[in-house]
Amino acid sequence: MNYRHAFHAGNHADVLKHVTLLAWIDTLASKDAAIFVLDTHAGRGTYALDAAAAERTGEGQAGIGRLWGVNGLPASVQRLYTLVAAENPDGVLRHYPGSPRLALAAMRPQDRLAACELHPEEGAALKANLTHDTRATVHLRDGYDAIRALLPAKEKRGLVLIDPPYEAQEAEYPRVLDAVREALGRWPTGGVAVWYPIKQRRTLHGFFRQAALLAPRGLLCAELYVRPDDSPLRLNGSGMLLFHPPWKLDAALAPALPALARLIGEPSAATRLEWLRSAP
Ligand SMILES: C[S@@+](CC[C@H](N)C(=O)[O-])C[C@H]1O[C@@H](n2cnc3c(N)ncnc32)[C@H](O)[C@@H]1O
Repeated sequence: MNYRHAFHAGNHADVLKHVTLLAWIDTLASKDAAIFVLDTHAGRGTYALDAAAAERTGEGQAGIGRLWGVNGLPASVQRLYTLVAAENPDGVLRHYPGSPRLALAAMRPQDRLAACELHPEEGAALKANLTHDTRATVHLRDGYDAIRALLPAKEKRGLVLIDPPYEAQEAEYPRVLDAVREALGRWPTGGVAVWYPIKQRRTLHGFFRQAALLAPRGLLCAELYVRPDDSPLRLNGSGMLLFHPPWKLDAALAPALPALARLIGEPSAATRLEWLRSAP
């Protein structure tokens, strides 16, 4: 486990992932019933963009940094911006919240979050970060195993966020699909959001085909390419596979993606919002 999210926090992939996560939670939160969020690969919860790791790559400044001070953002991008701005009250972008903190910021008192992290240092930081929030429990364990342990949730509604570092490369995809199958089998009323990296999209077609078989209630795919996907060596973009998304999530994301491409991407940036399996 060499991956450290501190090098990548706030980059284009995080922005796409977190805009999507917040839009999903906000859609669910339009009804009173409690929701449960399981974050299987939660990271440390917050990241310093002025720390050596982040400054070395510059990814955060090239991601969320490009949105800083921009007016007229689409609502679902503004939602992320406002929550990040709340962590930077002096107006200077220094802190970027990770998925568990953002989820909690969008959740209500009746909602519950379980956040899993396997790396001991990241897990300890995550615990310290969430300790004051009684809605959150931190599990220092394998996030894939946690699906078996923590689902079904007592809440009917909610989602599982699966955001692995893909250190295992090709071997990660079957694990992700098994995890989705397990999660939806145990908790059919919930949904699953999976982040995936895009170097060359054509290598992902088999993954998409298998994913679609797991989603009788619909599979939406939201992608942001910051440059053409013609190099196998670079993270040219990323996507979110959204299994059983709530009604109107696609409408919430539709204006966000082109805005992100324009603000964060190179001139050749592109987006895709597509149903890989339509909702019944
Ligand atoms: C991409 S980062 C997570 C970022 C976080 N979801 C966010 O959006 O802020 C992936 C995290 O998963 C952790 N990790 C790797 N393998 C894991 C596993 N099997 N179970 C739980 N966590 C794992 C890594 O240590 C890393 O912190």
